[in-house]
Amino acid sequence: MDRAKFTVPMLAQRKATGDKLVMITVYDATFARLADEAGVDLFLVGDSLGMVVQGHETTLNVTLDEMAYHCQLVARVKPRAMVVGDLPFGSYQASAEQAVKSAVKLVKAGAEAVKLEGGVSVADGVEAITRADIPVIGHIGLTPQSVHRMGGHKVQGKQPGHNPGGRDRIVSDAKVLESAGACAVVLEGIPRDLAAEITRAIDIPTIGIGAGPDCDGQVLVLHDVLGLTDARMKFVKQYADLKDAVVGAIGTYADEVRTGAFPTDAHSFH
Ligand code: KIV
Repeated sequence: MDRAKFTVPMLAQRKATGDKLVMITVYDATFARLADEAGVDLFLVGDSLGMVVQGHETTLNVTLDEMAYHCQLVARVKPRAMVVGDLPFGSYQASAEQAVKSAVKLVKAGAEAVKLEGGVSVADGVEAITRADIPVIGHIGLTPQSVHRMGGHKVQGKQPGHNPGGRDRIVSDAKVLESAGACAVVLEGIPRDLAAEITRAIDIPTIGIGAGPDCDGQVLVLHDVLGLTDARMKFVKQYADLKDAVVGAIGTYADEVRTGAFPTDAHSFH
């Protein structure tokens, strides 16, 4: 496996060669080390940490300071993978200037690129961040920060139309992001054929989550991959059942403390 640092120009190369991009969410140094050893290309320090780390029901409460903190934890291990910092809700919607300031903060925390949600509506912000020489990854389709507009975390792009969430609008969102300078775009929660159409229509790579196999790459939430969450979504493939392993290990530790089986003399200092 090629162990060279993964950099932004490699995104375009992958689109050209057709080699799939592998992205996974990572929120701390321990898992950053493990995921880097496993050889993924891109770490997304995602605002999904609001749900899987902080225990919120949505991503809406995550702050820019919290995202910067988690970017620091991940970047500190100096991974081969490229570190992408997620701009949280409220940190880029107000103006292009706000978007640049927020992106700068994540880059100073160690992000090598930023991701933000939306297409046409955030094009000015994407352009401004790109002008500041910060690579931007777009995110369209099911955008969790729009949970209230969508009426829940629901698959988007099932109906034609130019309204937000409509199929034609999502295609326009992808094209506008490309024109604004985005280096890649995450396609979340859209029908397979729409993701394939967008992947053919733009020259920047698409990274799918719940968008089928025809994207240029895939991203999943770490805790779902490892089976640490109870969520059983159709688009997720769980590659391990660490929940049972974790509960079992901690339960055995608790039993042994209670019965006196741990610690023994072997665990003692003399
Ligand atoms: O925050 C996140 O984890 C994400 C992925 C679901 C793409 O945005």
